[in-house]
Parts: sequence; C-alpha cells; structure tokens
Amino acid sequence: MKPFQLATADCLDWLHAQADDSIDLLLTSPPFEKARSYGIDFDREGEAWVRWMFEVVTAAAPKVKGLIAVNCEGMTTNHSYSCVPELLTADLKRAGFNLRKTCVYHKNGAPGTGGFKGQHEHQGGGPDWLRDDWEPVICITRPGKLPWADGNACGHRPKYAPGGENHRHAGRNQWGGGRAAGVRVRDVEGVLATAVRPSHRDVDENPDEVEAIANPGNVIRCYAGGRSKKGDRYLADKSEAPMPVELAEFFVRAFCRPGGVVADPFMGTGTTGVAALKWGRRFTGCDIRPDQVRYADRRLRNVSPSIFV
Ligand SMILES: C[S@@+](CC[C@H](N)C(=O)[O-])C[C@H]1O[C@@H](n2cnc3c(N)ncnc32)[C@H](O)[C@@H]1O
Repeated sequence: MKPFQLATADCLDWLHAQADDSIDLLLTSPPFEKARSYGIDFDREGEAWVRWMFEVVTAAAPKVKGLIAVNCEGMTTNHSYSCVPELLTADLKRAGFNLRKTCVYHKNGAPGTGGFKGQHEHQGGGPDWLRDDWEPVICITRPGKLPWADGNACGHRPKYAPGGENHRHAGRNQWGGGRAAGVRVRDVEGVLATAVRPSHRDVDENPDEVEAIANPGNVIRCYAGGRSKKGDRYLADKSEAPMPVELAEFFVRAFCRPGGVVADPFMGTGTTGVAALKWGRRFTGCDIRPDQVRYADRRLRNVSPSIFV
C-alpha cells in the first residue's frame, strides 16, 4: 500500500470494500447529528443517527484488527440532551461488541455566556447550565488484548521524581517512595516509613534510574479551534469541524504499530491521515464530498515533520 490512499465515497460503501483485517486502527469523527449539514443536507439525528452509526461500526469491525475509536457528540436543544453517544455505546454493548472505557477529549469549550442558540447551544452553557468542555471517544475492540498498543507512547516523565509527591496516597508515589527526603510518612498500609527523595537533578543525571513513564490517562487535553490562513492549518480548516491533530496523534501513537494502517471513513480534510503519516504509519480514508478529498490529498502530500514546528 502507498503511504496514503483516499477515496470519494459513502462511508458504508467504502468500509464494505476494505479487506478483512486490513486496518490496524480506525479513528474517526462522524457528523454530530445535525450540528452541521456539510452541504449535503446531513440530517440524521437521535435514533436515526444511532442506527446509522451502529451500521458503520458493524461494517468496520471485520476490517479493523485493533481499536475503533469514534469521537462523537450529542446535541442539546430546548434544554434537553439527545444522548446519542451513550445510546450508541449501549446498543453496541447489548449487541455483543467489546467496548473499552470511553476516552475523553478535553477541549476548550466556547465561553458559556448563554448567547448560543440552536445548533451551538450545547457548547455555550448558559445561565442555567455549564460550558461544554469535553467530547467522548467511544472505543471498540475485539475481545482480548489488542494486537499492538503502547499505552505510554504519549506518556511523559512523571511530574515528581521518585520519592516525590503523589496526589493519590499522601506520602506514597508509584515507586513506593515518600513525600520528601527524610520525612516520616505513613504508607498505604499505614506503616510509618522514612522517605528518601532523589532531587530532580539526580534524576536528570541518571536517566536510567527513572524508566517509568507516567501513563497519560484517558483524558486527552487538546486545544480546539482558532483559524489560520497559513500552512497545514489553512487546509485543515477547509473542514467545518476539523479534529485537533493532537487528538489524532494520541490514538495513532498509542494504538497503531509503526508502519501500520490507520483509517478514517469520515476523514474531512484528513487530520487523522496527517497524524498517521507524521508518525510513520500509513493512511486510508474517504469522505463523501470530493472537495474534502482534494484538500486532504493536498494536506497529506505535504506532511513532513517540519510543518509542525
Ligand atoms: C466532523 S467532519 C470530519 C472532520 C475530520 N475529522 C477532519 O479533521 O477534517 C465529518 C465529515 O463526514 C463527512 N460525511 C458525512 N456523511 C458521510 C458519509 N455518508 N460518508 C462519508 N463521509 C461523510 C462530511 O463530509 C464531513 O467532512
């Protein structure tokens, strides 16, 4: 397979045409009910949206060896939430799909002034409700362990050096150390112990002593929004609702083996593909609109690490 392959197609037709087991990771962001019509009069909402997305996941399942990750959102209108992500999750579970715990895409919500009406009402909070700062990413896998995963790929050096502070058990961190050098602390079993804490400088000078990388957790914090007239961002924004590249990168790095195939059947301007190519994976995707496929093609031809600096 070439580094990337794009098609103008309906997601279901395209998924049915893929070979079984040909995809390592499917990451996608379908239309969020009627939040946008995409110029194609997209109008599925409520149960119709759930039935349609159930069909999409069912079509994807035989093709994807690893994770199917669906970033989606329900609409709030007239002070009532449609719950479509939850309804889809429940339908998938009841039909026998294997679900992993939903991840949270933590974004910067639109300011909650109450000024938003209608389709954007769900983002703005208002006088009697809260600003919306997150979206679910529904995660479906085959039963058992994933064929490839690196949960720590987007991990980071722990905030505290061994022996340093820990937010869960006072005086105990993941290496069994205590709060501060020479301080008497009670460990998780309640036994008093003397903590020893190497300084951060010690750790930097002896990196081998700190192999642990803190697992990044299932809340993925990304900056959303902000338009630009330049570079990759300019082409990304030719989609009405581009996913943050950082969100796609998280899933690509954690759940697709290097050289593996990442797919997106609602690719828009190809953000999932950008993340895949940037991290040495291949990409295959489709969108129903030819203009989005053209923009994605332009974007992906230009992917090199230098566009991100
Ligand atoms: C939320 S946007 C995806 C944005 C994309 N993640 C990005 O970063 O650019 C949803 C996309 O789904 C596409 N779409 C809607 N119905 C479709 C269908 N039946 N088959 C394939 N694509 C469809 C729309 O054209 C739109 O580009």
